[in-house]
Amino acid sequence: MSVYLDYNATTPLDERVLVAMQPYLSTHYGNASSRHEPGRVARRAVERAREQVAVAVGAHPTEVVFTSGGSEANNLFLQGAAAAFRTPGTVAFGAIEHPCVLNAARQLTRRGWRLAELPADAEGRVTLAGVDAVLSNAEKPGLWSLMLANNETGVLQEVETIAARVKARGGSAHPGWFHTDAVQAFGKIPVDFRALNRAGVHALTLSAHKVYGPKGAAALIFDKHLDLIPLIAGGGQEGGLRSGTENVAAIVGFGAACELAAERLANLPARLHALRERLEAGVRAFGATLFGAGAARLPNTSYFAFAGVEGETLLSRLDCAGFAIASGSACSSADPDPSHVLIAMGVPPMLARGALRVSLGAQTTETQIDDFVCALKTALSELQKLTALQS
Ligand SMILES: Cc1ncc(COP(=O)(O)O)c(C=O)c1O
Repeated sequence: MSVYLDYNATTPLDERVLVAMQPYLSTHYGNASSRHEPGRVARRAVERAREQVAVAVGAHPTEVVFTSGGSEANNLFLQGAAAAFRTPGTVAFGAIEHPCVLNAARQLTRRGWRLAELPADAEGRVTLAGVDAVLSNAEKPGLWSLMLANNETGVLQEVETIAARVKARGGSAHPGWFHTDAVQAFGKIPVDFRALNRAGVHALTLSAHKVYGPKGAAALIFDKHLDLIPLIAGGGQEGGLRSGTENVAAIVGFGAACELAAERLANLPARLHALRERLEAGVRAFGATLFGAGAARLPNTSYFAFAGVEGETLLSRLDCAGFAIASGSACSSADPDPSHVLIAMGVPPMLARGALRVSLGAQTTETQIDDFVCALKTALSELQKLTALQS
């Protein structure tokens, strides 16, 4: 079994979450829309999970719509809110967003929408100057999407400040609907929808499998003023916003995972921060360039490269040595292009091709970090010897 150091890609299911889900995979198989006792049992479970999710981010249960994943929730906001506009407008989004936001925004151009990409600085933070430049245009964006924490660098974005700026200076009819992708932030730092909403954020995305919950359950938390057209029409589940029979077991698991996420926040981030410091001291000693290290970051994420060493090559050597890490974003590791996040940060493409992401989680130990640093040292020196022989 590999030493797992890829928690930003996904997390193992917590045993307690599995226990909570099990009855809904066996005994309680009712359809939550059915009007009989098995149906009511399933409905009660879905509604309890909705409350657990809402409580975890300071929202109201009526503000939670369950989806199949973070990707769907992000698409529901971008495509669903855009469809509610009478005429196409501009959609503004961070250059460092996850592909499910970038590509959903790009698809809107087919319906006549214009794109305003918000640039990032060298540390991977979307800049206030970039936001101000977009706000100074005659046409203010109707839609905004800016993530709370980046999946590759872990860098935190100034979402509250930027949303407040948009609220104060946006368009006249309404300042623009503002969304934040909190998929990576949730469970690693406190996320408070009510505070964000006061600042001017109207919608927020969560995903269960990043917080020791199951794959296939997620949510869009949204302000009821926001007009959304559903992506999936049908039987009218989820208040008409997401038709389709609910995945009751996964939703129950998501609710349980949210409760545990709140508990974990008390100690886990500090422990992971200390482990990351240990890791980064090790990789710095071998000459790594760390990305985003000058910015406020998630405590569990480290992103680095070694000049002249291909990330993919190093990743596969480490995989053989029994360590599971990522090169860039796991979701796009089939993509040979250098990370769009690093390119947006101005990292030279050659160095960006060397990027490795190590993301720590609940089961990471000091010994694992020390073993990883040791394996990295061996892999690096083998590769450097090979390069010397070839030249
Ligand atoms: C920041 C971010 N947003 C969205 C997603 C997509 O979430 P899901 O895998 O639940 O579709 C991911 C997954 O890696 C992510 O890291």
